[in-house]
Amino acid sequence: MQIIKLDATDSTNAYLKGLITSNDSRDFTVVVAKNQLKGRGQMGTQWISEEGKNLTFSVLKENNDLSSDNPFLLNIIVSLAIFNCLNNLQVPDLKVKWPNDILSGTSKICGILIENIISGNKIRASIIGIGLNVNQTVFHTISNASSMKLLLGKTFDLDELLRALLKSLESTFQDAQKMGSEKLWKAYGEILFRKDKPSTFQDSNGKKFMGFIRGVSAEGKLIIALEDNVKKEFGFKEVTLLY
Ligand code: BTN
Repeated sequence: MQIIKLDATDSTNAYLKGLITSNDSRDFTVVVAKNQLKGRGQMGTQWISEEGKNLTFSVLKENNDLSSDNPFLLNIIVSLAIFNCLNNLQVPDLKVKWPNDILSGTSKICGILIENIISGNKIRASIIGIGLNVNQTVFHTISNASSMKLLLGKTFDLDELLRALLKSLESTFQDAQKMGSEKLWKAYGEILFRKDKPSTFQDSNGKKFMGFIRGVSAEGKLIIALEDNVKKEFGFKEVTLLY
């Protein structure tokens, strides 16, 4: 495994994308930065992280059969890998908020941004970007955020933690081949935030509604049972869970 350590870059996802374009990368190449100047979050948001306090890194995953037939499986594998690693480190009350935010209680401690490199109509490779709040204790502009230090009351060694996360990613990718998609889906469903609990959502027109999360469809859409018990599937941009 090749690990590229940078003091600063715009975004580790963007840096890794550049390496792929220049053909200077292999499966599981990792780019980690102490500081991101233009950290990217989901849906065009910014990922803000205090310099030197947290983990911001990206992992290249070259195409495997699992992800090309079933793109959402990659979200599941990455979520499970991070969940298991943090669970082993005793981070309390972990859940995965669909599609792949990692929460402790109701606070977000980790965000994942997966960007696919498509050639033809196939996913050639995926860039798995991970931002984990580790030793930062003040979050000025972000509500609902926490960190491992705030939750566990101790400072973590970032290199050690990165090694543990990469090990978990590697082993979960290996296990995924043996487990097959059905078991992975089940494992993901078991750790899904607010599953089977009455919840409030907002659709893309701003309309609020009540429902129960029942699971995630084969295409990765969130399955919500509405008040009349009719199940409806929502894509990533179509619904927000309010909590
Ligand atoms: C989210 O919005 O929850 C996803 C955040 C992903 C942040 C990580 S930090 C490392 C990688 N590089 C980026 O620019 N973004 C991802």
